[in-house]
Amino acid sequence: MQVVRFVGAVALSVAVLPGAGAQGLVNPATEKKIDALLAQMTIEEKVGQLNQYSSAFDVTGPPPSAGYQKAMYDQIRQGLVGSVLNVTGAEATRKMQQLAVENSRLKIPMIFGLDVIHGYRTQFPVPLGEAASWDPAAIEGSARIAATEAAAAGVHWTFAPMVDIARDARWGRIMEGAGEDVYLGSLVAAARVRGFQGTDLSALDTIAACAKHYAAYGFAEAGRDYNTVDISEHTLRNVVLPPFKAAAEAGVATFMNSFNEIGGIPSTGSAHLQRDILKGEWGFPGFVVSDWASIGEMIPHGFAENLEAAAQKAIVAGSDMDMEARAYVAHLAGLVKAGKVDVKIVDDAVRRVLRVKFALGLFDDPYRYSDAAREKQVLADPGHAAASRDVARKSIVLLKNEGGLLPLEKGVKTIAVIGPLAADKDTPLGNWRAQAVAGSAVSLLEGIQAAVPASTRVVHAEGVKLVTGQRNFMARSVFNTTDRSGIPAAVEAARTADAVVLAVGEDAFQTGEGRSQVDIGFKGLQEELIRAVLEANKRTIVVLMTGRPLTLGWTADNAPAILEAWHGGSQAGHAIADVLFGDYNPSGKLPAAFPRHVGQLPMTYAHKNTGRPGPEPGVTWSSYNDMPNDPLYPFGFGLSYTTFAYSEPKVSAPEIGRDGSLRVSATIANSGKRAGTEVVQLYVRDLVGSVTRPVKELKGFQKVTLAPGESREVTFTLTAKDLAFYTAAGKWEAEPGAFKVFVGGNSRDVKEAGFSLK
Ligand code: BGC
Repeated sequence: MQVVRFVGAVALSVAVLPGAGAQGLVNPATEKKIDALLAQMTIEEKVGQLNQYSSAFDVTGPPPSAGYQKAMYDQIRQGLVGSVLNVTGAEATRKMQQLAVENSRLKIPMIFGLDVIHGYRTQFPVPLGEAASWDPAAIEGSARIAATEAAAAGVHWTFAPMVDIARDARWGRIMEGAGEDVYLGSLVAAARVRGFQGTDLSALDTIAACAKHYAAYGFAEAGRDYNTVDISEHTLRNVVLPPFKAAAEAGVATFMNSFNEIGGIPSTGSAHLQRDILKGEWGFPGFVVSDWASIGEMIPHGFAENLEAAAQKAIVAGSDMDMEARAYVAHLAGLVKAGKVDVKIVDDAVRRVLRVKFALGLFDDPYRYSDAAREKQVLADPGHAAASRDVARKSIVLLKNEGGLLPLEKGVKTIAVIGPLAADKDTPLGNWRAQAVAGSAVSLLEGIQAAVPASTRVVHAEGVKLVTGQRNFMARSVFNTTDRSGIPAAVEAARTADAVVLAVGEDAFQTGEGRSQVDIGFKGLQEELIRAVLEANKRTIVVLMTGRPLTLGWTADNAPAILEAWHGGSQAGHAIADVLFGDYNPSGKLPAAFPRHVGQLPMTYAHKNTGRPGPEPGVTWSSYNDMPNDPLYPFGFGLSYTTFAYSEPKVSAPEIGRDGSLRVSATIANSGKRAGTEVVQLYVRDLVGSVTRPVKELKGFQKVTLAPGESREVTFTLTAKDLAFYTAAGKWEAEPGAFKVFVGGNSRDVKEAGFSLK
């Protein structure tokens, strides 16, 4: 059901999405209460609901100026602040809430937001890593634990999930999303929303979620954070928006807009994105928060001449809450009084904010999430560590395993655990780690020590440092390590060991916001260490801990075994050890390709064919003259300790009608010697369209666990809905014609069949 009201030319929709009803965001009783409140509110109090401050300089943004805290507290007492971010802990949130509820005229509770991205206290793998599990249920479970912990610490709202499709690993924020693919990204987006929000936002183990960054932030030119985006409506609708729509359909309570412009319009000022699509077409009933100061940033963008104009453009375009630009609190009431902004637009924004506060139960008890005893108990729950270990193992991707070097035998006499990340107890926590305790992760060294019998000697050598001095990634010199003094000891440890585990990759803070790089290879002296260790001992397993795909260069060709463990969270060391020793057979698959060279970026398996797809190499074909087009490890790639054989896929009919469905089946056999789990992937290609279509698009996957020698037929069902896209006519529909279907264990190695749609 959707009712769209128009104020001037602006659509203010009051809508009910399927999921929204389930979250209780819109219901007649609440709408009545909101009507009653709105009737009592002054314009200043209304604007206050749309005003969000950070409690202190925390993760991002400029530090507060002197007196900032005091001024903010005064405004809270006057009911001029609707939300605070970066306040956490049962006690602190209670105190902060008291300021509003005990002093302001209408006693409207504030909503407290925090970036709870991959855990609150207990950290799970960074989101990109988690997506490698291809396990929506596990991902949902991890978001629920994060929500449970955050809710017990007084947090009502997370700025997650980030659902930006990212195809350029230079962009440091690739770490925060689910990778390059639209289908996987949409499933993960919905899973995270369900995990954070559950079916009842007022429950004490759920918090409101936020789909961000709306939209196309992941398409920043040259992978440089905050940079310009210039994509077509076609790419916007077919690639960028589906995960956001999936989040909306899962009932996500809020959206965050994005720093970038698209085609000359900053997202924050885009009525097309926020009003027409989100609140209009999709009938989204929740609210949109700006990104940090993004309303004010429309000035340097060259889209608004001053903060007042920025406030006007943002509110009219549908940005409901102002995060830290202080534009609304300064100018919005005046703009309404001057007749430059229709008060109905403000009322609609306030209504949206209040809906979420009601749904969270804050009007029943503004302190319900701020319970110190529950906080203590929930944060100490041992089940959370066990869950984190489980998700971390599911996320690990085996990239190479020559000669069956892995799994290692536990009885091995001497293991050398080498590398800058081997004993690191902090980096596995990753960036955007909310309230994790610094240095609290299980290191790889500890994980290995705990896994082996007393008879195994575990030798440790750091070799080189990952970065210089302080981990200040705003300073480019952080990568200029020159200290080689630890290399001889590492070489000696490797030489005398039966097996070497070499932990290299990226520091926790090397990915995330503002962490773009032109070079995504091993930084510092890491490759020198890798070469020296491999020369000393060929039985070396390279364990990568990263927040992005890397270019592995020499290492890819020369290391016999490579494991991508990401920044794996609080239990990373145990999870990696589980995989190294075969207690867990890896089944993770890459959610984003590992390029051969940074010059290939941006890249995706779901590229277009071009008019000159050609053989490679070929001078007048669309290929590089100095390197193949394809990545080193493609999307969907990941090995197991066993092998899987795929039959040719079969389709149930050569042709289907618009209302029909097609079954695509293939038999998968475990052709190796161990039980293992395979992610069987289904891809489709629409050969001719009113707009050109990608050479492959993921349309389904199934995880199958098979004993050695066992085989199983896996069947996928496709309908016209699965083949739909945003056509040249501006419709979301499937077009008749010929299709290919592909089944395989990654996006490159597939077997194909075909059918047509009538
Ligand atoms: C980031 C958002 C984040 C916000 C609040 C911004 O700089 O882009 O993703 O939620 O800060 O910390």
